[in-house]
Amino acid sequence: MPLVTIDGKQIEVPEGTTILNAARMIGGDVVPPAMCYYSSLKGSGGKCRTCLVEVSKGSEKDPRPMPKLVASCSTTVMDGMEVKNKTSDRTLDARKGVVEFLLINHPLDCPICDQAGECDLQNLAFEHGMEHSRYEFERREFDKIDIGEYIKLHMTRCILCYRCVYTADQLTEKREHGIIKRGDQSEISTYIQNALDNDFIGNVIDVCPVGALTDKTFRFKSRVWYTKPMDAHRNCSKCSGNAVVWMIGNDIARVTARKDQYGEVKEFICNECRFEKKEMSDWTIEGPRHINRHSVISANKYETPIPEHTTLLNKA
Ligand code: SF4
Ligand code: FES
Repeated sequence: MPLVTIDGKQIEVPEGTTILNAARMIGGDVVPPAMCYYSSLKGSGGKCRTCLVEVSKGSEKDPRPMPKLVASCSTTVMDGMEVKNKTSDRTLDARKGVVEFLLINHPLDCPICDQAGECDLQNLAFEHGMEHSRYEFERREFDKIDIGEYIKLHMTRCILCYRCVYTADQLTEKREHGIIKRGDQSEISTYIQNALDNDFIGNVIDVCPVGALTDKTFRFKSRVWYTKPMDAHRNCSKCSGNAVVWMIGNDIARVTARKDQYGEVKEFICNECRFEKKEMSDWTIEGPRHINRHSVISANKYETPIPEHTTLLNKA
């Protein structure tokens, strides 16, 4: 098994593992951010360049450093390889540049965007972004489009990561949307304004790292950090029925699939669970959802039940 060192931490990984996945096996600070790679989607990665890292030693056999930074999501490890993520000034500098590029056309509308609080780009900009933009030209703008009954496409916010295209391609029977045109004209679009109504198409909302694809049944209902995420399940004939219900008081405001600590869904859910089951009686509630990612959503959430005899005064 190849032995790889990332930011001074060593791990042995199976042959063919990418640097990003080796870093995820180590966990913590050594894990590069990823805006387009998505472990459950085949072919994803290699588009956004946020996961760039420096390879300071190629391998035991050929210890020369790689001259350019490499995309960690699509570069496999070699035995003896040494990688620098957070410990490389070149990497941090390049990441700053990537964020600046991603934000060239992305509107700074976090205060009104439904993705705020769970947006990968917002987190990335917070960590690596500049305080102001140097861009002086006109930004790309698009009209918002309803793609089907439940999904709103706000193309202006899209970073062209392709995740939704792979999701539609790999999870649904008919693929009717993709990326059309080229270069800075590229846009996510449906085939002649088709509605997307396949059973699993709602998953494009969960995989979108920004607020370009949002759930019309939840849009503008609440800031996500005011809701309480709860693990819940139901008997469903189309999917596993394992989901997260996001509650406001005793009402279910939205339903999503469960995400891991990298914000990735491992078990996709169907449209019926996501859009049509919003009654408490539809679900068996398991308990509060722990949001692993560093996120404002995790703030101020009681994850253990409050003992009945405890008064609120004691708790404060
Ligand atoms: S709409 Fe979202 S998921 Fe689709 S390419 Fe754009 S940013 Fe990625
Ligand atoms: S996550 Fe590697 S290029 Fe986007």
